[in-house]
Amino acid sequence: MTFQIDQLTVHGVAVLAPMAGMTDLSFRRLCAAEGCSLVYTELVHARLLLQGAHRSLQNVEVGADERPVGVQLYGHDPAVLADAAAWVEENIECDLIDLNMGCPVPKIVSRGAGAAIMRDPALVERLVRAVSDAVSLPVTAKTRSGWDDAELNALPVGKAVEQGGGKALAVHARTRAQRHEGPVNWELLAQIKAELSIPVIGNGGVTTPEGALAMREATGIDAVMVGRGALGNPWLFGQIDDLWHGRPVTLPTPAQRRAMLVRHLAVAKDGFERWATRNTTRRGKTAEGRAMAFLRGHLIRYMEGAPGRDGFRARLNELLTVEAVLEAADDAWGWDDAVRAETESLLAAA
Ligand SMILES: Cc1cc2nc3c(=O)[nH]c(=O)nc-3n(C[C@H](O)[C@H](O)[C@H](O)COP(=O)(O)O)c2cc1C
Repeated sequence: MTFQIDQLTVHGVAVLAPMAGMTDLSFRRLCAAEGCSLVYTELVHARLLLQGAHRSLQNVEVGADERPVGVQLYGHDPAVLADAAAWVEENIECDLIDLNMGCPVPKIVSRGAGAAIMRDPALVERLVRAVSDAVSLPVTAKTRSGWDDAELNALPVGKAVEQGGGKALAVHARTRAQRHEGPVNWELLAQIKAELSIPVIGNGGVTTPEGALAMREATGIDAVMVGRGALGNPWLFGQIDDLWHGRPVTLPTPAQRRAMLVRHLAVAKDGFERWATRNTTRRGKTAEGRAMAFLRGHLIRYMEGAPGRDGFRARLNELLTVEAVLEAADDAWGWDDAVRAETESLLAAA
């Protein structure tokens, strides 16, 4: 099963949603290895990127093992977004540029970016056209169902994206007012899919393979975008693919779960070591400690279903080395020597 974003062929029906503070290179890599068909960086501030901000540069680092990958930019000035996109095309080995038109965070909305852009389809078209003219990579957008229940702007936004030369539209089918909770508007997704000719990627509330297929069948969308459902559960992408192809869906074994955790810790530590600055050393925090602190949101998700999850959560702030995290995870899950030995064989075979 494939779908096309302009010249880019995407193999599979499940993509990873961009999530600030979550979908860094380490997590994207794991998802790609589990069959996720397209990943995105978290939103990156176009102007700060052009100014060479350390954090923004770190956020646009991509790996050869996670392709295809999109870089998501945010801002509201067509010229700045176009320049940032051109910089990305020249400096980053990525496959598409995605424009954020859905972020509900007040600091971003009050500056006219993120979800604020949805309210002005003429601006949407100008932004997409300016960026499309600046790069040869496909340009896509991610938006929401609307501003609030009284203002469902996704369809006019989608048409403006298409009109401006955009090559795909992802829709988180909740309004800005809903933030990240509450019902997901499948009816609107179906309507958008029916009225646009570019691919439509549906997003919101998918946490199981059955949920992914149900959304796709009910709406006709080209692909499903999974956000929080993939946290602590990168296997979901392979499971969606299995169910889609009528293969049995399997759950990870204890050793597979532990091996995933070991890999995640290792790639995150490696990333923080590569990007360590003298500043962080001065503050007395090691790159490893910062990586473990950064991973807290993921770590607790890996403990979902573990008998000792509460105890793990209580110790979370003290877990500042790979070794400490693994020991606490072994305790929480009750993983024994046999699981540890099997994990080693899995990692050695990979
Ligand atoms: C912690 C967090 C960070 C997010 N950051 C971004 C972001 O950088 N860019 C974006 O377009 N959406 C962002 N989102 C929204 C997600 O991409 C997605 O639309 C939302 O989580 C709904 O999907 P889900 O119900 O599958 O989680 C974020 C969501 C969460 C929970």
